[in-house]
Amino acid sequence: MVKKIRQCRALDGEITPAGDKSISHRAILFNAIARGQAKITNLAPGADCMSMMTCLQALGVKISLDVSSNGVIVEGRGHRGLVEAEGVLDAGNSATTMRLLTGLLAAQPFFSVMTGDSSLRSRPMDRVIQPLRLMGASIWGRGKDRLAPLAIRGGGLVGIKYKLPVASAQLKSAVLVAGLFAEGRTTVTEIVPSRDHTERLLKAMGAKIDKSDRHITIRPLVEDLNPVDMNVPGDISSAAYWLVAGAVHPHARIRVRSVGLNPTRTGIIDVLKRMGAKIKVENERWEGGEPIADVVIESSELQGIEIGGEIIPRLIDEIPVIAVAACVARGTTVIRDAAELRVKESDRIAGTAQELSKLGAKVEEVSDGMVIQGGTPLHGALCSGRNDHRLAMALGIAGLIAEGETEVEQSEAVDVSYPAFWSDMDRLGAW
Ligand code: S3P
Repeated sequence: MVKKIRQCRALDGEITPAGDKSISHRAILFNAIARGQAKITNLAPGADCMSMMTCLQALGVKISLDVSSNGVIVEGRGHRGLVEAEGVLDAGNSATTMRLLTGLLAAQPFFSVMTGDSSLRSRPMDRVIQPLRLMGASIWGRGKDRLAPLAIRGGGLVGIKYKLPVASAQLKSAVLVAGLFAEGRTTVTEIVPSRDHTERLLKAMGAKIDKSDRHITIRPLVEDLNPVDMNVPGDISSAAYWLVAGAVHPHARIRVRSVGLNPTRTGIIDVLKRMGAKIKVENERWEGGEPIADVVIESSELQGIEIGGEIIPRLIDEIPVIAVAACVARGTTVIRDAAELRVKESDRIAGTAQELSKLGAKVEEVSDGMVIQGGTPLHGALCSGRNDHRLAMALGIAGLIAEGETEVEQSEAVDVSYPAFWSDMDRLGAW
């Protein structure tokens, strides 16, 4: 589907992003193996969390939709309660579903097969297979055990000490989930910290999990996890599009309400501040064990900056839209240490550089990032979201400031995480 966007005169109003996708995945998964009922509201609406739910339903978990609260009721089966699925589990486009479930299924006393769409089937799964095999798991995959479909014969795990070779919350979480079922302790060591929603939620549910410095240790479950009701905080990765839109548009003021501000996720706010954005965090409070607040952004004069090192995992999903901010900023923006972007839903370094270049941006691709010369006005053109939700949304934001009309092909990719993205754009923009 092609979405047409015209340069808009002003951007004004309020937006309340739907629930955070990473937190929603974990809330469903951990409550599924807890004992008893949990109500999760403000769940992330896209196809990704639906994939997690359908897989868990196939493993015997009862999950019912509660449309009035954008939520679900999960009937947790206890940590020994999952049953072998009759068919192949389909994770769709969702790597979080596939990687976290691989950790869980590696520990279950039955056989599972898991697959996904063409994008997910091309993404690295060896990173989870390797540590789980060290724990004693039997897992096989296509392409010499690198790619899905995966076949898993679970059970009989022992705890390990594992230094994560990449800063990945999905990998960290897969090993920690397996550790809940392993004999002895499991310790993962992070070189660079990544999002910590797994640690927070498992702790809140009664798991024995401790963090010291960069080491996270989990002990096997003796008793079932306690179910927790949760109202999921707004997704900062969805809010990011409007924060950048507000900063780069010359006539904008946007209030983004109830955004999750977990410090492992707020790299986008730090970067916008460093670029000189007029951004304010107001009304700070707590929701579901996570900090939340309203964020107000106004038209700003941005400056190019260097982005690399430890901040990267804190904004990894926001880099395509940060590139849009960099196109407008004065001077050069250099993004490094982000090679992980090459193995996301698409190669986001190539996609961002090539698609923004079609709009007249000066973006040079480097192996682990991009060098962007800002200050060149963008013009409307035909470009493609390349079946990648985050790329499609970043191009949409670029379309709001590009002269004339921008056409984004494969615009339906937004359904994976933010189905209301285009209608929110129509509501906030004044043409
Ligand atoms: C996620 C972790 C990140 C992120 C993804 C969601 C998660 O991936 O890019 O969108 O929920 O754990 P990696 O763990 O591969 O870095």
